[in-house]
Amino acid sequence: MTVIRAAVFDAYGTLLDVHAAMQRHANRLPPDWERISAEWRTKQLEYSWVRTLTGPAHHRDFWRVTQDALAFVAARHGITDPAVLELLLGAYRHLSPYGDAAPTLKSLRAQGLQTAILSNGDPGMLNAAVGAAGLAPQLDAVLSVEDIGVFKPDPRVYTLMTQRFGLVPEQIAFVSSNAWDAQAAAAFGARVFWCNRTQQPDEYDLASKATVISGLADLPSLLA
Ligand code: LAC
Repeated sequence: MTVIRAAVFDAYGTLLDVHAAMQRHANRLPPDWERISAEWRTKQLEYSWVRTLTGPAHHRDFWRVTQDALAFVAARHGITDPAVLELLLGAYRHLSPYGDAAPTLKSLRAQGLQTAILSNGDPGMLNAAVGAAGLAPQLDAVLSVEDIGVFKPDPRVYTLMTQRFGLVPEQIAFVSSNAWDAQAAAAFGARVFWCNRTQQPDEYDLASKATVISGLADLPSLLA
C-alpha cells in the first residue's frame, strides 16, 4: 500500500464545532436552539451546493453563504434582534475546536505527516477560526475553495490538496465528519477517514470506502 504522507482535514464539523456559536449565545435564543443551529448548518450547505451547481456567476464566498443561511433561519424562528445576529456571526468566526483536534494534529506531525485543512471556508474565515482555536501551529497549510470558486463536493476542490503537497490522492488521508464530503474525497481517490462522532447510520456505502472512526484521537495509531 502507498505510504500516507499528509493528513488533510475538513474544517467545519470536523475540527470545529459548528454548533458552538448558538451554544455560546443560547441564553439569547429560543429553547430549541439546537434544532435552529442544525437548520442553519443545513441551509448553509444547501446554499453552497446550489451556488456551485448554478454556475460561476452565482458563486459567493462561504461567509456570505453562512450569513444568508442565518438570515433565513432567524426569520423563520422569529430571531429579530440584530445584536443577537451579530453575536452569532461573530461567534461563528471563532468556533470552538473539538477537544481532540489539536492533540491529534500534533501527534500526526510528530509522526512525520504533513497536515492541512481543506475547507469551503474563505481564507478570512479560516484564518480567524484557526487562530482562535489555536490550531495554526499544527497546520502546514490551510486550503480554501476560494482559490477555485466552487464548493465541495465538486471534484476540482480535492485537487487543491494533491497540488499543494505534490502527492497523488492515495498518499493523502482525508478526514471529514461530513459523510457527503468523505464520499467525494473517496471518489477522488484519497484514503478517507469518516469521523462519525455521533454514530450516524452509514451513507454512500462509506463503511466499504472509508475507515470509520469515532473521534479524531483514533487517527495517530491508524496512520502510524
Ligand atoms: C468545510 C465544510 C464543508 O469545512 O464543513 O468545508
